[in-house]
Amino acid sequence: MEIVLAEHAGFCFGVKRAVDTVARSLSSGKKIYTYGPIVHNESVVAELSEKGVNVLNSKEDLLDLIRDPDVKKEECAVVIRAHGVPRSITEILSESGIECIDATCPFVKRIHRIVEKAGTEGKHVIIIGDKKHPEVEGIVGWCLGKCTVFETPEEVLEFEPEKGEKLCIVSQTTYNFNKFQYIVDIFRKKGYNDSVVNTICNATEERQQAAQDLAKKADVMIVIGGRHSSNTKKLYDICKGECEQTYFIQTLDDLHLDLPKANRLVGITAGASTPNKLIEEVQNYVRINF
Ligand code: F3S
Repeated sequence: MEIVLAEHAGFCFGVKRAVDTVARSLSSGKKIYTYGPIVHNESVVAELSEKGVNVLNSKEDLLDLIRDPDVKKEECAVVIRAHGVPRSITEILSESGIECIDATCPFVKRIHRIVEKAGTEGKHVIIIGDKKHPEVEGIVGWCLGKCTVFETPEEVLEFEPEKGEKLCIVSQTTYNFNKFQYIVDIFRKKGYNDSVVNTICNATEERQQAAQDLAKKADVMIVIGGRHSSNTKKLYDICKGECEQTYFIQTLDDLHLDLPKANRLVGITAGASTPNKLIEEVQNYVRINF
């Protein structure tokens, strides 16, 4: 039986980089905090917490830390996760004396720079994405002037910018490409095509495409990821569409396979928040037991 791991399974480049940054920063001897959970995976966060990494869940948590008279600021460091943060958070940190270790994904950082520059040029920044997502909140926080977030084409249809206003349109990195194009077309039809920057990251698309390619050939597919992870659910649906015997598991304990000998190829893929360690455990388990 052949066991094949899909390309691009698990952490994307930006998340891996952020998790590695936290691991490296532990050797500094400082007390390490992350601004928000470094990745949406409880076991990764729990493992880091055992190593002494604390999570600051909000600006208030950060301010409480700064105001705490018992905390020696020079002995602390806060890691900014891949989603990035508003400029105000980095300013609070730099004034506090606490070291700021910026693990913002370079693709997200690029958006910060684009919107910042657009602001200095007097442009109205339009962000296409989920208003409540931390990445979008971060991008909003780098806009210097006018900025509006749209989640759906319907909202854009109702939008009437001021006459003569110049726009700069960007998107959240994980936004759907076709939907973004559709929205850009609505702006064009309204007569606005000044500056559109496709800031969508293709990590999600690559992961889905690789999973689909593998599922087409596989007799059995195993999809690893969190129960509430929407990108894992999507991966499962894609694989199930190509391979009837597709299993969704959160941990190795969920894997109760009874594979007939006729199965030749077992494919494995994993959602964006699934750590490598777990992927390897599943691979080894299948290798040893079947
Ligand atoms: Fe990941 Fe960075 Fe893309 S965090 S999804 S590689 S924008």
